[in-house]
Amino acid sequence: MNDSQSDFATRAIHHGYDPRQNEGALTPPLHLTSTFVFESAEVGAEMFAGERSGHFYSRISNPTNDLLERRIASLEGAEAGLALASGMGAITSTLWTLLAPGDELIIDKTLYGCTFSFMQHGLTKFGITVTPIDMTEPQNLKEAISEKTRVIYFETPANPNMRLVDIEAVSTIARSYGATVVVDNTYATPFLTRPLEFGADIVVHSATKYLGGHGDLVAGLVVGSGEMVKQIRLIGMKDMTGAVMSPFNAMLVMRGIKTLALRMDRHCQSAMTIARMLEEHPAVPEVYFPGLESFPQHSLAQKQMPGYGGMIAFELHGGIAAGRAMMNRLTMIGRAVSLGDAETLIQHPASMTHSTYTPEERAVYGISDGLIRLSVGLEGIDDILADLTQALPPVKYSKSA
Ligand SMILES: Cc1ncc(COP(=O)(O)O)c(C=O)c1O
Repeated sequence: MNDSQSDFATRAIHHGYDPRQNEGALTPPLHLTSTFVFESAEVGAEMFAGERSGHFYSRISNPTNDLLERRIASLEGAEAGLALASGMGAITSTLWTLLAPGDELIIDKTLYGCTFSFMQHGLTKFGITVTPIDMTEPQNLKEAISEKTRVIYFETPANPNMRLVDIEAVSTIARSYGATVVVDNTYATPFLTRPLEFGADIVVHSATKYLGGHGDLVAGLVVGSGEMVKQIRLIGMKDMTGAVMSPFNAMLVMRGIKTLALRMDRHCQSAMTIARMLEEHPAVPEVYFPGLESFPQHSLAQKQMPGYGGMIAFELHGGIAAGRAMMNRLTMIGRAVSLGDAETLIQHPASMTHSTYTPEERAVYGISDGLIRLSVGLEGIDDILADLTQALPPVKYSKSA
């Protein structure tokens, strides 16, 4: 089916699959196989030599993964996609492919904790220079970039504090130095932001989050040009990490993606309502949500995101002690890491997802000890509001305090 003109929601359901070619099966078949039988020894040799296409071992490709890869590529507006075992599998396979000793990687100062740790505590051991900058100000990139810079890496919105990066401005600067721009699009998903349309080269995802959407799997995805994805498949995934997605998880991610548009609409709506409630609450001095007019980068959010997503960060008067007490009073909302699920989840980055930063690094890179992260789920909005409201500290601060 040539569906390039179809709506996002339609491609999320149909792209790349024709039931008529699969005995009428509505749902794509699950190919639970590790290997594939060659028609002849010569055919096998040709496949290994790259002279003939086809599947020959599921650490390299599998028909179920292949369908998911084509689907995510369509949704992100990319030539090709790649399915990996986890978000970290996607990130590490990409960077091991792109970087070599002597290269420089410039990163935004706020990244998911394990991504930061992989780069700052891992890649630096292998002769790669990692330079964190505040990329919310593209001028800082202009000053930092050089001929040695091979890759620019950021998240937008960033986990956990929701800072945004102007993808177009950063990609323009990167292009003039021939550097590759890699964007982690986990928070926004292609429903809200398609970084390649703003000039980025590669998008990585933790598909564990909104794409899977149901908290029942761990998975990662990469999209980019056909050539780049081929390199990441054959070098990063096949040889360096082995982080291939299981076909079973590929099927579950495709099932999740079918309802992505619907779910994201609801996440966006509910998060907006909750962010407004928090902003008005006297116990809450700071709320970080791109949809609020008070958010410092609200106009960039309007340029890059047609909706503002389901993630909110906030601080309470009384810092982390007040935050922990509040989290412990919740009755429906789950105290858990991860995000993008049907269930509303809350966590404390400094002691959980971002404890991979040292306390000194958190201080320098702006991840405050009091920050709370909320992943707004799909429950009835009144029930989410009620649980939060009963758990928030009794009002004893005035907003100006
Ligand atoms: C923004 C972001 N990127 C990457 C990852 C890593 O993904 P995974 O847990 O699927 O390896 C996470 C996990 O929380 C994340 O939040």
